[in-house]
Amino acid sequence: MDQTGRSLISLEGLNREDIIWLLDQAALFEAQPNRKILDGKIVATLFFEPSTRTRLSFETAVNRLGGRVIGFSDAATTSSSKGETLKDTIMMVSNYADLIIMRHYLEGAARYASEVSPVPIINAGDGANQHPSQTMLDLYSMRKTQGRLDNLNIYLVGDLKYGRTVHSMLVAMRFFNPTFHFISPKELQMPEEWKKYCMDNGIKFIEHSVLDEETIADADILYMTRVQRERFSDLAEYERVKDSFILTNSMLDNTRPNLRIMHPLPRVHEISQDVDDNPKAYYFQQAKNGLYVREALICNALNLL
Ligand code: CP
Repeated sequence: MDQTGRSLISLEGLNREDIIWLLDQAALFEAQPNRKILDGKIVATLFFEPSTRTRLSFETAVNRLGGRVIGFSDAATTSSSKGETLKDTIMMVSNYADLIIMRHYLEGAARYASEVSPVPIINAGDGANQHPSQTMLDLYSMRKTQGRLDNLNIYLVGDLKYGRTVHSMLVAMRFFNPTFHFISPKELQMPEEWKKYCMDNGIKFIEHSVLDEETIADADILYMTRVQRERFSDLAEYERVKDSFILTNSMLDNTRPNLRIMHPLPRVHEISQDVDDNPKAYYFQQAKNGLYVREALICNALNLL
């Protein structure tokens, strides 16, 4: 439903079997990340918003698979700064590339691009909306650390209003009977439309307003998120809420042994540096898993699996 051709715009278009199959493919890439599957293919990475992990892991994936990358990481250097429309940019780049991976600050930009593009589009994040490749690597990381995706207690902490990764996660996890706990300041609560999405899809959720040892005692996954400064129109409000929830090492003493702390990164202040050496910290390995998952997503978009 949400895939135009072989584009990946949101995870709405995938069912449980599709998700598991893609994760299995990613596991094969983890076992063997260097394969010449993309020989002769050109992939464009168009980043209208800053990125470290998403762009570099997608580009690494193309390079490891023998393809070539064109693109930009700063739209100010492109003709969009002269007023070229997104449609025209996509039409031009599709003359040169077999696949376009795009991050854009506008919600819905990736869907629009997929509707006008003759080549597949992978959404690398559109505004506060969704970030499907991040969610696939999040699911991969959950399955790898927990041994399953079903029946997990997943605690989403921080900016649940603007954080696109948590929205995509709700979509993907609807097949796996999770219990979500939403922990955020009231200004950054999970938006009503996403709570309705949960209710419509039978996804259990509980809302909390504090992050402490007691609240997270039953967590299998503690998914921390950054307060998204770039989405605030009022920076005074950002300053007021930015340090609302900070995870410290001492909060983890009585948590479940299988707990893993995840974060899509970048981290600002929300995970104290002293958590990094805790064996339950998983965010750096999580980002590494992104390479294998993105190898699978690229090959799937190009119908090469
Ligand atoms: N997780 C994520 O999207 O990170 P980047 O913004 O660095 O790509």
